[in-house]
Amino acid sequence: MSDDAEQIRDVVQDEALDEIPPAFTGEHPIVIRGLRNCFGDQVIHDGLDLEVNRGEIIGVVGGSGTGKSVLMRSIIGLQIPSEGSIEVLGRSITDAQDDDDIDIRSRWGVLFQGGALFSTLTVAENVEVPLKEFYPEITDALRHEIARFKVLLSGLPEEATGKFPSELSGGMRKRAGLARALALDPELLFLDEPTAGLDPIGAAAFDSLTRELQETLGLTVFLITHDLDTLYEICDRVAVLADKKVIAVGTIPELLALDHPWIQEYFNGPRGRGAQGAQDRSKAMDNQRAGKA
Ligand SMILES: Nc1ncnc2c1ncn2[C@@H]1O[C@H](COP(=O)(O)OP(=O)(O)OP(=O)(O)O)[C@@H](O)[C@H]1O
Ligand SMILES: [Mg+2]
Repeated sequence: MSDDAEQIRDVVQDEALDEIPPAFTGEHPIVIRGLRNCFGDQVIHDGLDLEVNRGEIIGVVGGSGTGKSVLMRSIIGLQIPSEGSIEVLGRSITDAQDDDDIDIRSRWGVLFQGGALFSTLTVAENVEVPLKEFYPEITDALRHEIARFKVLLSGLPEEATGKFPSELSGGMRKRAGLARALALDPELLFLDEPTAGLDPIGAAAFDSLTRELQETLGLTVFLITHDLDTLYEICDRVAVLADKKVIAVGTIPELLALDHPWIQEYFNGPRGRGAQGAQDRSKAMDNQRAGKA
């Protein structure tokens, strides 16, 4: 950790020690039971169960419109389910009162599908929004420094701090959204389609960054994606959403052993086989390099 980062951490800890809850040490930071979500007559989820393991990157897949984003919104309390229970970091979201809500919201970070950056704020100002909301007592200078640090942590150059979202490429916007999601040092990171619209090199770089952050910061990552390369490269397990439920959760080989038609079509279709082949080749090259070294 850099001197800057250490200094920031010390000051933040001194100033806000009472407000920082202890990190979650249980096995499952997200537990969903019997979830039902409807919009009018349209039933999106019915009897959906899911447990996420602490420290894993869980990929969430499913056809377009199966309710992946609605599921994420339910977990973070933006969509009130009609039935079922959701616990996040040991606290009930479905029964949450306002005060509880505020406290728990500071412990996750979210990259929404499409980015959801404030277009009239610079990248740094976007990152400062959650800091202002949850830690209004932090001085301006310290807040600027924390925002700068998060922007750099997300792999953006220093100059990006002063740019507006419209001045960034799609990939840079995703990184800016990530910087904002990391603003409060979350335990849980939600990423909704983080690599959609990125070129393959940009997508692979974003995947590596996600894995690196998960490992170094000890995050649990809930990652919604259609990107088969992402699933093969960085996800520890994959949850499959179909028929209004999570129909299976497991490693990709475990999923491949199931004979559900959607799962077979998805992972064993031409694109699925392509992604698997690419990963096999990349592993073979790594082994070759390791052998030569
Ligand atoms: N606020 C809302 N009001 C009414 N219907 C909604 C609302 N939000 C989502 N829906 C509907 O819920 C269904 C699931 O939407 P959701 O956005 O979760 O899909 P998704 O799995 O994330 O799809 P994609 O892969 O295209 O992002 C869709 O039919 C959508 O139209
Ligand atoms: Mg979606």
